[in-house]
Amino acid sequence: MKPLLEVNNIKKYFSFQRGILRKKTFYLKAVDDISFNLERKKTLGVVGESGCGKTTLGKTLVNLHKPESGSINLNLDDGTSIDVINANDDEMKTVRRTIQMVFQDPHSSLNPRWPIKNIIGEPIDILKMASGRREKESMVMKLLNDVGLKPEHMNRYPHEFSGGQRQRIGMARALAPKPDIIVLDEPTSAVDVSVQAQVLNLLKELQKSKSMSYLFISHDLGVVHHMSNEIAVMYLGQVVEYGDTDKIINDPLHPYTKALLSALPVPDPEFEAHKKRIILKGQLPDAINPPKGCRFHTRCAELVGEKCKHDCPALKEVSKGHKVACWIYEE
Ligand SMILES: Nc1ncnc2c1ncn2[C@@H]1O[C@H](COP(=O)(O)OP(=O)(O)OP(=O)(O)O)[C@@H](O)[C@H]1O
Ligand SMILES: [Mg+2]
Repeated sequence: MKPLLEVNNIKKYFSFQRGILRKKTFYLKAVDDISFNLERKKTLGVVGESGCGKTTLGKTLVNLHKPESGSINLNLDDGTSIDVINANDDEMKTVRRTIQMVFQDPHSSLNPRWPIKNIIGEPIDILKMASGRREKESMVMKLLNDVGLKPEHMNRYPHEFSGGQRQRIGMARALAPKPDIIVLDEPTSAVDVSVQAQVLNLLKELQKSKSMSYLFISHDLGVVHHMSNEIAVMYLGQVVEYGDTDKIINDPLHPYTKALLSALPVPDPEFEAHKKRIILKGQLPDAINPPKGCRFHTRCAELVGEKCKHDCPALKEVSKGHKVACWIYEE
């Protein structure tokens, strides 16, 4: 069976006019040639620093951004496939139902003037899923229950909820069309550390009970580790390492992945005290003017030579299901 979602070589560039007369156009390559597959009922974690293109990638998958090039294919259980980027109106309805996104900032993504029943009910209206008001309300109540909220929450407004509860409301709205895929963009970033685990456990339970696939976006490799079957490590718009979670965590290959891992706290205090921490040199470079060659070379602790500064290494498979883009692993 084909993977549920096949993403091939997608690029999303933003253009800017700069200079005194604003005559010169610059391109910010927010997503620059990214490919991956998302399997049924599995989670692909996407991790990387702020600004590396995680949200842009997620929005491209749900068609909020039209990519410059590349393809996104949705392979449905009935054997049909949809070319998401060139979908016609009918196909687009299926795409909207099948792929949902929970947005990064639950404060701005929930309409403050709407009661929760309207927010969660919106996709039910758009997709004409209920035959009348009563059926819609019972669907909303069921969704609230699914995410651990109460029926009486239906008539309240977003500002009456905590960060964790708002995240649950966003999730209820995403669940309404019964999607097969949810893009979760930093689902715990607006949540108190003390309730992070609850939100993550809820997401895992929902994934299992509703047989969904997740694209799980986070800057926190620890959280991604906990949630994902596979991990893609992003740096300045590109994937620099990709593989099974176990491989990425226990046998990281890219110097950037190694640095991210070394910053993770370890539960054993003895080990933590003696652990070698790799400090990333310098700041994340300007995305409009990224370094030539390997984009990571300006901060790399393991430079292998001049080619790192001049040529960009391709993402290559080094063992089954484990890919890395680094000159260290090229013959
Ligand atoms: N609509 C837009 N117009 C122009 N530039 C954009 C737009 N959206 C994102 N960018 C730029 O694209 C790059 C990637 O942004 P994106 O929001 O995808 O990163 P991110 O990895 O999600 O970061 P964060 O962890 O802070 O959420 C950034 O340099 C950002 O400034
Ligand atoms: Mg983001």
